[in-house]
Amino acid sequence: MILEANHIHFTYPAGDKALVDASFTVSPGERIALLGVNGAGKSTLFQILNGSLKPGSGTLLLHGTPVTHDRKGLLALRRAVGLVMQDPDDQLFAATVEEDVSFGPSNMGLAEADIRARVAEALAALGISGLAKTPTHALSFGQRKRVAIAGILAMRPAVLLLDEPTAGLDPSGIEDLMQALSRLTEQGTAIVIATHDMDLAWSWAARVAVFSGRSIALQGDPETVFADPERLKGYGLRPPMVHEMGLALLQAGLIDRLPKSVAEVALRLKRPVTVSG
Ligand SMILES: Nc1ncnc2c1ncn2[C@@H]1O[C@H](COP(=O)(O)OP(=O)(O)O)[C@@H](O)[C@H]1O
Ligand SMILES: [Mg+2]
Repeated sequence: MILEANHIHFTYPAGDKALVDASFTVSPGERIALLGVNGAGKSTLFQILNGSLKPGSGTLLLHGTPVTHDRKGLLALRRAVGLVMQDPDDQLFAATVEEDVSFGPSNMGLAEADIRARVAEALAALGISGLAKTPTHALSFGQRKRVAIAGILAMRPAVLLLDEPTAGLDPSGIEDLMQALSRLTEQGTAIVIATHDMDLAWSWAARVAVFSGRSIALQGDPETVFADPERLKGYGLRPPMVHEMGLALLQAGLIDRLPKSVAEVALRLKRPVTVSG
């Protein structure tokens, strides 16, 4: 396990209890979707996991060792756990894409050649190599999002936390991004996305964790988590549409396995559907 948060409690100085006894783990190469209504605690958990916030109580282990919230401990944690914030404009500040993405590796004290290699690698992973010299102010929202992700990726974190990465992207932008993220997990990077996109959680994640009552109330593989739509509704979440449709087709005997996408429905239909009337 790379990261293990046990029984975390966290209260904001203003008095908002954001996490109550929350536990969460991340292993290499995992694809995890974190679900929950607004205010459930997803962003707070992310900030605990990369050391931006210190737990009130509970333990955070990195590679099995308790994290100390001093300079050295936090440096090690932030190298291992990269957090991409929801709004890219909270993250981008340099004049050009290349300068922005090289900021993290430069801060790690790497040699110039290593920095250049990491920047090139991160831009390629996000499919934005062509933007290296582009001024950051000239980028579209979707491009800024990818640059923000590349900037974190250039530090080669073992765990990449992405806070609502698909919010504000168009469908093809979402597809490109998720493909890029899947390639990263194939190379061993663990990815956790906080999302409101239930269909994405159903189709992309290998593990789904649902926040409710300020901690993770339900988690497991998507088949298990989405098996009880009523329970999900109780947590304020709508079941994935593809899953609902799949269940109906399964019950009608038209398919024999739950599909992950609409395209898969067509492939799995046992016989052509004739529309009458
Ligand atoms: N900076 C902050 N100061 C005080 N309270 C906060 C702050 N950020 C979040 N909260 C509160 O903590 C709780 C969890 O919020 P958050 O982690 O942002 O949830 P989510 O990301 O799931 O929407 C909410 O009650 C929210 O109002
Ligand atoms: Mg949030």
